[in-house]
Formats: sequence, C-alpha cells, structure tokens
Amino acid sequence: MKIFNFGSLNVDRVYRVQDFVRAGETILAENLSYFPGGKGLNQTIALARAGAEVYHVGCIGRDGGILKDCLVENGVPLAYLRKLDADGGHTALQVSDSGQNAIIVYSGTNHMLSEDFVDEVMKNVEPGDFVLMQNEINLVPYIMQKAKEAKAQVVLNPSPITKTLAAYPLELVDLFIVNEIEGEALTGETEPESILAAFRKKYPGARVVLTLGSEGSCYQDDAQYCRQQIYKNTTVDTTGAGDTFCGYLLTCLTRGDSIKVALDTASAASSIAVSRQGAAPSIPRMSEVEEFLRERKR
Ligand code: RIB
Repeated sequence: MKIFNFGSLNVDRVYRVQDFVRAGETILAENLSYFPGGKGLNQTIALARAGAEVYHVGCIGRDGGILKDCLVENGVPLAYLRKLDADGGHTALQVSDSGQNAIIVYSGTNHMLSEDFVDEVMKNVEPGDFVLMQNEINLVPYIMQKAKEAKAQVVLNPSPITKTLAAYPLELVDLFIVNEIEGEALTGETEPESILAAFRKKYPGARVVLTLGSEGSCYQDDAQYCRQQIYKNTTVDTTGAGDTFCGYLLTCLTRGDSIKVALDTASAASSIAVSRQGAAPSIPRMSEVEEFLRERKR
C-alpha cells in the first residue's frame, strides 16, 4: 500500500530567541539555523523513517537543494518532485527558550502545483492507496476530488487553517488528523468530546484523530473511541512534533496496527521529536521509537 503525500517543502530559517518578538518590538536572535521543513516534507520524512512506502509530491524552488537532499537521505523517491525557477517555500521561524515556536510561511513554489501535474501523479495511485494532504499547498480541493476518483483513502491534516478551508469538499475525507484549533475551526466546538461528536455528525463515516497538546490525543470512528496520553520528555523545540505524529500514525494504520497502537507509537515518536532541534532532522526512526517505548513501559 502506497502513500502519496501532496505536501509543502520549506527551508526553515530558525531564529532562536528568548521570547517571541511582539508588535512594535525589535529583538536580537541568539542563533540562526537552516533546517529542512514544511508540514508536507516533515510528514513524508516521518512516514519514511517509520517504514512506510511514501512518495512526496511537491515543488521546490531555486533554493530547494537541502529539501531534495533530505528526501534522498531518507530514501524517498524523487519521481514526483518538481524544481521550478522561482522562490521556494521558506519560513521565518522563531523558537523560544521554552521550545515553543511562532512561524511565518512564505508559500513560494508550494503554491505552484498545476492540475496537469496532479493528474499525472494520480495515474499512479491505485485503489486503497492513501493520498495525504496538509494545507500548505494550492489545489487541495482538486487533489481531494482526484484522489477520490482514484478510489484512494483521503487523509487531511488541515494545517494551517485558512479562510478557504471550510469551502473544501471535506465530505471526501476518510481520515482527519486535526488539533484543537483546527477542530474548532471546522466544527465551531471547543471541547474535545463536542468536536468529535460534531465531526461524526457533519462527516459521517470519516475517522477523526484529535490531538490535544499536553493532554494527548483521542480518536473517534463509527464503532470506537480511544484516548492516548503523551509521553513526557524534555522540550527543546516543538517544531515538527505534530508532523511526526501524523506520519507515524498513518504508517501504523497502513501496516494494520490497531488505532490504540497507532496513537501510542505516534505519541512516543512526537515526544522524541520535541527533545531535539529542527523540524525534519528531529524525527526519529522506528527503531528508536520502539526502544523508547520499551524503556518507558519497563
Ligand atoms: O509543522 C512545522 C512546519 O510548519 C515547519 O517545518 C514549517 O516549515 C511550517 O511549515
């Protein structure tokens, strides 16, 4: 079973700061680092390091060398990666001393996917394959429709929230992976149980994973509800932790694990990711996650 991830690729310019800059304020950064990132790329790397057969579909720009290298180093095929003669996706990313982040994304080539390109890739999608999307690229509604026509499982991590998101054909989604803010934006509810109930009502048949930050995560489908706590760890940089969770969760589900095992493994993987710097570079391999779980459950 293959996973096609139609996703962004960003060069993260990470500024380490004591506290985030406020309106009208000028601050000095303690340090500047460049990391491969982007919600799409991070999720592809998490899928690859977890052991999934993943294909990344996206566009890099003139400065996208480190993004391409990152895919190569992680064994991800480059068949669906396009290089365009334009500015690529990049971020100005503040990471504070407490490990939290504040991100400005410049979309660049992430918003230059064409329908022809999508159609070409879809020829290789087989029934039962997974098509994963976040919300950092253009044409998300089109990709959802084409994925459904190809009889693929449609997975949406609607991050970041945009004004147009509510108008997407969300009834086509088979699996939502959302955080509380996204859940609230899509349902108008604020409490986890009410968010899950509203998803069931609005999108019957869809499975929903709701992440709750330090409160863990929960899952709901027609037949079952499940809850998972986080694994506490030292927080160095939370960037990419949610993407790590998504990639691991999906890998576990595609290899036939129960939702309980999938949430547990995803939770352990994201806990390791927050203890390291950077987005894609912080994502652990499955062997490390298994070792971490053995230690924690001893
Ligand atoms: O989810 C983290 C990612 O969000 C960062 O890598 C950054 O590129 C932004 O897209």
